[in-house]
Amino acid sequence: MSNLSCAPARLLTIAIDGPAGAGKSTVARGVAARLGYTYLDTGAMYRALAWATLNRGIDPTDHATIGALARQLDIRLQPADSELHPTRVFVDGIEITHEIRTPEISAITSPISAIPEVRTTMVALQQEMGARGGIVMEGRDIGTVVFPNADVKVFLTASSHRRAERRAAELEVRGTPIPFAQLVRDIEERDQRDSGRDVAPMVPAADAVILDSDSLSADDVVQQIVHWHREAEQRRG
Ligand code: DC
Repeated sequence: MSNLSCAPARLLTIAIDGPAGAGKSTVARGVAARLGYTYLDTGAMYRALAWATLNRGIDPTDHATIGALARQLDIRLQPADSELHPTRVFVDGIEITHEIRTPEISAITSPISAIPEVRTTMVALQQEMGARGGIVMEGRDIGTVVFPNADVKVFLTASSHRRAERRAAELEVRGTPIPFAQLVRDIEERDQRDSGRDVAPMVPAADAVILDSDSLSADDVVQQIVHWHREAEQRRG
């Protein structure tokens, strides 16, 4: 019997990028659960930094101070114990899992995530966290910048209308509804900022598969990605 047949299966890297509300988190968590991989929500890291910026009364346009803050903060992500729950997020030991999901934090996270020094720090942390593979990483620049050699790359998108509907349903559950027209406007503004910035703009990697979740259920997308993962494993041997 060849030694190779006893080699443990290689742990691969799966990158899931795309705009807010396309269903990335549900899909990424589903894929991670199916494969026994770790799920990493990189948006939560940028949100944690935005929360710390506000919490410390730092001017959100003070790039130098925020860049330094990104290097000092102890941001920890703890995978949730169930596929249905979000990642738990801690900054310097304080849990801020729910605090980072408000519209105010969403609004200031986008410009803060465009600061080059912030991206350098976050990307290095993300590369360290995913270095051993066995990871499903969700964000905007995972397939282009963080793991350009990821084994499976997906850019998950959907119409702004459909994304606003999903967001409205989430806010309704939380008891903090926002007028629908405003949700669509916020989503479109954020898309423009995230894809128009100079550093690591939100664009599909040249070798990413673009999926539109308007016409696909989350389960369909999970199954498709698990299938591509199997193919990638076979290619790797
Ligand atoms: O995925 P999210 O909505 O939690 O992301 C919050 C913000 O962070 C969003 O405006 C884009 C930004 N972000 C980013 O620039 N790069 C990432 N890898 C993840 C998020």
